[in-house]
Amino acid sequence: MKRTLITGAGRGLGLEFARQCLQRGDTVFATVRAPADAPALVDLQAAYGDKLTIVPLDVADKDSIEASYQRVREHTDRLDLLVNNAGIGAISKNVGDVNAYRVLGQLDDERLLFMLRVNAVAPLMIAQRYLDLLQASDAPRVVSISSGRGSLHDKTTGGSYGYSTSKAALNMFMRSFAFDVLEFGIINVVINPGWVQTDMGGSDAELMPEESIAGILRVVDSLTPADAGRFLDWQGNEHPW
Ligand SMILES: NC(=O)c1ccc[n+]([C@@H]2O[C@H](COP(=O)([O-])OP(=O)(O)OC[C@H]3O[C@@H](n4cnc5c(N)ncnc54)[C@H](OP(=O)(O)O)[C@@H]3O)[C@@H](O)[C@H]2O)c1
Repeated sequence: MKRTLITGAGRGLGLEFARQCLQRGDTVFATVRAPADAPALVDLQAAYGDKLTIVPLDVADKDSIEASYQRVREHTDRLDLLVNNAGIGAISKNVGDVNAYRVLGQLDDERLLFMLRVNAVAPLMIAQRYLDLLQASDAPRVVSISSGRGSLHDKTTGGSYGYSTSKAALNMFMRSFAFDVLEFGIINVVINPGWVQTDMGGSDAELMPEESIAGILRVVDSLTPADAGRFLDWQGNEHPW
């Protein structure tokens, strides 16, 4: 039975990860910034009881990362899967002026650094903090949810400074991490979930969360050491860097 930790599990793709991992029998540690604002997760807990532990975590706060680790450590001595899912875009709630992240002439250094912190630095810091629990697994996997916007190959227009750069940085951070942790048997990849209907993806998006997450979990289950450090799409195809 897998033990799985998912960040940003209160809504969107993170919530769907939690739902599908519980359905298949995983023990799930679902992290959220504010559990009281995640009623769907609380409903899942009513259905799955102690198979689901809700853990407070603001990924931008190093004390919160430490507190989450201590909390998870009380419940388990290993993790089989870490899903770095939490992320922000320029239109996410409480992130301030949209243009500060994406319009030349209105870019703001503090806002750009904050987006880099949430989308790129935090996943690396979380993976680093949880390393001992991952090392204790027989088949540990780390997956970070990247984006096509983080692809230099696909970047042919201006704008989207903050989001695109943060996901490109995530890709490079996690590629370094992948080679560092392969000796512990940890297989680490970054995955583009596709364009998915969530608060971030919007209602015009091509995919429903159910389809994207089912695809990602199939990909994760089929990973071998040869996949370490790869950038894949939700169907397991190679993604151009
Ligand atoms: N949807 C798409 O089309 C798409 C495409 C490519 C990549 N992605 C990536 O997929 C991931 C999930 O996105 P989504 O579509 O599910 O977006 P979403 O619906 O906006 O959800 C974002 C999640 O991230 C969490 N989060 C944001 N800042 C956080 C912080 N500081 N600490 C902890 N949690 C934080 C949010 O928690 P709160 O509820 O507390 O705000 C929420 O659970 C993101 O990394 C995103 O970049 C999405």
